[in-house]
Amino acid sequence: MTRLSCDRTPAWGALQTHFNAHGRAFDARVAFAGDAGRFEAFSQSAPHIFADLSKNLIDGETQQLLLELARLTGVQTHRDAMFAGAPINNTEQRAVMHWLLRHPLVAPSDVAQSAVKNVAAELTAVHDVLNAMLAYAQAVRADEAITDVVNIGIGGSDLGPQMAVLALDQFVLPGKRFHFVSNVDGHELAAVLKRVKPESTLFLIASKTFTTIETMTNAQSAKSWFQSQGGTDIARHFAALTTNVSAANAFGISTTFGFWDWVGGRYSMWSAIGLPLAIAIGAEGFREFLAGAHDMDEHFRTSALASNLPVRLALLDVWYRNFHGFTSRSIAPYHSALRRLPAYLQQLEMESNGKRVNRSGESLAYGTSPVLWGEPGTNGQHAYFQMLHQGTDVVPVEFVAVKKPKHDLPGHHDLLLANVLAQAQALMAGKADAGGHRHFPGNRPSTFLLLDELTPTSLGALIALQEHRVFVTGSLWGINSFDQWGVELGKVLCRDLLPRLTAVGDDADLDASTAGLIARLGTFPA
Ligand code: F6P
Repeated sequence: MTRLSCDRTPAWGALQTHFNAHGRAFDARVAFAGDAGRFEAFSQSAPHIFADLSKNLIDGETQQLLLELARLTGVQTHRDAMFAGAPINNTEQRAVMHWLLRHPLVAPSDVAQSAVKNVAAELTAVHDVLNAMLAYAQAVRADEAITDVVNIGIGGSDLGPQMAVLALDQFVLPGKRFHFVSNVDGHELAAVLKRVKPESTLFLIASKTFTTIETMTNAQSAKSWFQSQGGTDIARHFAALTTNVSAANAFGISTTFGFWDWVGGRYSMWSAIGLPLAIAIGAEGFREFLAGAHDMDEHFRTSALASNLPVRLALLDVWYRNFHGFTSRSIAPYHSALRRLPAYLQQLEMESNGKRVNRSGESLAYGTSPVLWGEPGTNGQHAYFQMLHQGTDVVPVEFVAVKKPKHDLPGHHDLLLANVLAQAQALMAGKADAGGHRHFPGNRPSTFLLLDELTPTSLGALIALQEHRVFVTGSLWGINSFDQWGVELGKVLCRDLLPRLTAVGDDADLDASTAGLIARLGTFPA
């Protein structure tokens, strides 16, 4: 599929002209004063989420031009290709079908009319694994002898399930503790092993490839620890979540749950990689999580671009990155249970869209992924919000708030919501008349995502929304959002350096800095 590069479309040039004439000097305060309907025009309902986009630096013309850009770059065709199972991950010749993992089973008579018409066989396989995995999750939940579940995995095999288990803490089965070990730094695994007993622990070895060095090292150490403590029943205490079942078997694990190469690591929490979450919240809760995401898939797949929330968010991202030149976005979840959401989104967006070449490998003349960062509110307010309000750089903020709390402590939730509203208001309104150190320039953009409640369903929708938004920005930029070659070089160099740390040798072939640091570190026992 040949697609027009975004910066060669007429819409790109028109956006540049519009930015120079109006965009640079756009003032949201003036826009609100002149348009009583601005909140309605720039808000969007989507399944389980309401989004207020009105505090962003856009007007109707900006939006129309951005929509035109999406049309001219073929975002809809690309979206449809993903939902048709085409190999849109072109550098690896793979389809991109994480959305299928949350698609309900379709009766054979209805397949031809449904979204899965091209991939019906895969859907059956998805549900076979899902049913097996959820039956296993229910058995673990019922097994009172298992008190601790330790997930060993990294990147997409850690961040999603960890974020979700924390986020859905209120739905987690009492009596089970969940631990996530990702870092090859032995302090992490050692600290967990100090707190668990072999007879009451289930280790989940989560790795799409079953080759990732951190995960393999942690898994080997966990197995050695288990055996050194007298543990013998590996089949009961270890399970593997992987596409590489033969490697898991060779490692000695016979309990395995598979998935497919068309599920990217950072898009895998809906697959067997979600097993810790399924154990934590149960089969029904996990199905609700999938259903919430599926609702968002349908919204993305079928809504017109102008009323499509992932598209509208993505267009703002492009406007800020490529025309305003903003280089980062801050995520501010006003719910302490969403404290790992920024870390999760960092991988989702920066590993997907942190690319400097297009789908054909040609250098890009425009910026791609911004830096994502953030902490839960209100903590961030007492740390870096100073910079957001008065720093020299403008950082668009994405607030996430939840209407109904899951605790009954009086006063807290109103105060939390008043804080999130106040921060969004202060960023926009500023305080123009104070001058000097107390001057707030205002007109700083933010988006406000509002969930009714934080439930498996709404969390599923929120995450699918973010996945599709990343898809749209990547699509518009003409990059492949589904590979991650940028992580490979460090892995190769690490393999070369490791033996140099454990034996004295000639490091003259290395750069002077690396050789000097190795000399300073001395040698370690292997
Ligand atoms: O860091 C690169 C990466 O491949 C991520 O994309 C992935 O989520 C992570 O490593 C873990 O990979 P695996 O699940 O194969 O162990």
